[in-house]
Amino acid sequence: AAIVEHSFIVKNLTVRKLCQEQVITAVNGSLPGPTIRVKEGDTLVVHVFNESPYNLTIHWHGIFQLLSAWADGPVYVTQCPILPGSKFTYKFKITGQEGTLWWHAHVSWLRATVYGALIIRPRSGHSYPFPKPHKEIPILLGEWWNANVVDVENQALLTGQAPANSDAYTINGRPGDLYPCSENENQTYKLKVQRGKTYLLRIINAALNNQLFFKIANHKMKVVAVDASYTEPYVTDVVVSAPGQTVDVLVTFDQPIGSYYMAALPYASTFPAIPFDNTTTRGIIQYMGSTSQTPVMPALPAFNDTPTAHKFYSNLTGLANGPQWIPVPLDVDKHMFVTMGLNFERCETCPGLVRASASMNNESFQLPNTLSMLEAFFFNVSGIYTDDFPDEPPVKFDYTNLSLSVDPSLVFTQKSTKVKKLKFNSTVEIVFQNTAFLGIENHPIHIHGFNFHVLAQGFGNYDAVNDPKKFNFVNPQARNTIAVPVGGWAVVRFQANNPGVWITHCHLDVHLPWGLAMGFEVENGPTPSTTLPPPPLDLPKC
Ligand code: C2O
Repeated sequence: AAIVEHSFIVKNLTVRKLCQEQVITAVNGSLPGPTIRVKEGDTLVVHVFNESPYNLTIHWHGIFQLLSAWADGPVYVTQCPILPGSKFTYKFKITGQEGTLWWHAHVSWLRATVYGALIIRPRSGHSYPFPKPHKEIPILLGEWWNANVVDVENQALLTGQAPANSDAYTINGRPGDLYPCSENENQTYKLKVQRGKTYLLRIINAALNNQLFFKIANHKMKVVAVDASYTEPYVTDVVVSAPGQTVDVLVTFDQPIGSYYMAALPYASTFPAIPFDNTTTRGIIQYMGSTSQTPVMPALPAFNDTPTAHKFYSNLTGLANGPQWIPVPLDVDKHMFVTMGLNFERCETCPGLVRASASMNNESFQLPNTLSMLEAFFFNVSGIYTDDFPDEPPVKFDYTNLSLSVDPSLVFTQKSTKVKKLKFNSTVEIVFQNTAFLGIENHPIHIHGFNFHVLAQGFGNYDAVNDPKKFNFVNPQARNTIAVPVGGWAVVRFQANNPGVWITHCHLDVHLPWGLAMGFEVENGPTPSTTLPPPPLDLPKC
């Protein structure tokens, strides 16, 4: 195993897109930022120099961080921010996972432009559970604002309203030729391919607030992994992914003409509909040695095509007994039922104003700001968070009922910083249930520090008698982010084998500052090798 070292110089940069100049925060002067390539078993060391004007942290999305919770990165959860002009070195070992993950800023909305791919290949002497592809290409789908994203978020928080929609989606940082000026500004992503060869596309949804459909005209895709967990090969002509998720697909370029578009547009499941960016990004696949001609455009699903999204999400299965496969733990120590949705918050400093809010089990999560939760855990500091996150919502009701009058006590939430305490190595099963106040939506829930098995998912209210009969214990997909169906539920299970404090949250960035989050506090194990070591000496101070 090797030590792989990188330096991230994070600073502001002026770029030109959509006919205008925009100042963004970027890593090493590029958008997306650098691709990190490691092998399973390697140690990754990244020196982050914050030369931007903003507080910064970097999160390694989907990395287990076994006994290295200090390197996880969510601001005020595992660390205080790296202040402008300061630096911090993230150091961690990558074990037990292979495939495509990514890294992104985990403070305010900075991840809109501070992100990149993190690719984990099998260690030497090991191979993929599929034929070796001719080439591997990261495809990062992003979201672009003609504005400073930190300002966009702050403006929304100030007014208590939803933030401005994005102005474009992007493929590897480029919006593509359906947007103004992209032609002249070289803002269409182009991939040259060799006819007859099979490529591995590592698709990452790095958009802030939207799930995306992705298609390549006239080409099938074979899904072989999601969220850096191998899947049973699944052939499809459309991929769906929620912010945070990754999808690895094999594509054989065997079509007759010279060029085809790849394209992505949002899957927006909200009801009643709220405004969102309903534009399409596209890039060009050019067969080498063919004369260029007008590329063929794929027929994309409608933005609200829930049946297509659900078919993709629910048909995936894990590659049981493949490399890095973890069997489903069969005995559950802790059952949780967690409702998720939007609410209102009364603004105490601004009487009369009602702010947008979001919650899990009616608790609206607020980050601390004087110390990180992980330091509070390690050094036994009280007053930063409490461990009384409820196992179920305060009242049971019809979660699909859109009426605010169903139980007025649930319409308003309080801010709190609560975690669920878990015994080391205990198995947790969570039913995530979307609620319908202020609209039903598909929430992509990301659990830091763990992969979980997705036992089942469906629409409507979870049925505790009949739905468990559908659980897949044999080959469920393993993920780090589950897009819980719109107006529906999903059941996940994981083993709490990693001590520390782990945030669990909706990966739509609009919902995170509103409070659609909670934490898990996993106790130390019985031995030194199952105990969280002390923080690195350069961990930023608050
Ligand atoms: Cu990809 Cu908490 O984040």
